[in-house]
Amino acid sequence: MSSSASSSPQHVAIIMDGNGRWATQKGWPRLVGHRKGAERVKAIVRAAPDLGVKWLTIYAFSTENWKRSTEEVIGLMGLFARYIQREAEDMSREGVRMRFIGDRSRLDPKLQDLMHWIEERTSGNTHVNLTVAINYGGRNELTRAAQVLARRVAEEGLDPATIDDETVSGALDTHDIPDPDLVIRTSGETRVSNFLLWQAAYAEFEFSPVLWPDFTPEVFAEILSRYGVRERRFGGVGT
Ligand code: FPP
Repeated sequence: MSSSASSSPQHVAIIMDGNGRWATQKGWPRLVGHRKGAERVKAIVRAAPDLGVKWLTIYAFSTENWKRSTEEVIGLMGLFARYIQREAEDMSREGVRMRFIGDRSRLDPKLQDLMHWIEERTSGNTHVNLTVAINYGGRNELTRAAQVLARRVAEEGLDPATIDDETVSGALDTHDIPDPDLVIRTSGETRVSNFLLWQAAYAEFEFSPVLWPDFTPEVFAEILSRYGVRERRFGGVGT
């Protein structure tokens, strides 16, 4: 398959990095950086449709982030819950469909309930799709998918020989979400950090030096304009 990039990627996945450094540089607690980061999420979601982006997937909490201080973990979980409660009205009005990926079983049941509630409440929205990765890790997601498929082999007579790319994709948390076209990581770091390992197989990558709390719609638009001139070949030789 060969394809020239159209002007905008349909699906952009973002590793929102640099909240802690942003706050520390200003002499503030790290949580202030996360709070500012949440404001940026809202601004980027609002800007996305006009920039041609229909799908946004953001990395909010990784399976490794439990290693942070209890104060920071509790602060982040509280921020996620408040974001859902505070933004529910605006998201409904603005046509944002919100979903979550990651292993929810370790999250506070009240947060799980809120996540389920907002997914249901916004399930009919079609303007823009926001997927938030919480307690997400690509390896964890693939491991859980392997367990699901193994169970189907053992209990439902699934023939292992029939398992293909599509079967695996269908067993992932992202089963109803297209693969990302572009992955952006902020704050100058150039690692993939266990994010969308399967789904980003053919994605383009952009690394921005901007810390996430400074990531404005203008910075986003500038990165997207660079994507517009790339050619994606999906393993082919191009045109
Ligand atoms: C990485 O920066 C950021 C996180 C681990 C948290 C991301 C969370 C938000 C932006 C909060 C809001 C999200 C939603 C959906 C409401 P870091 O803390 O690792 O920064 P550092 O590398 O500078 O320490």
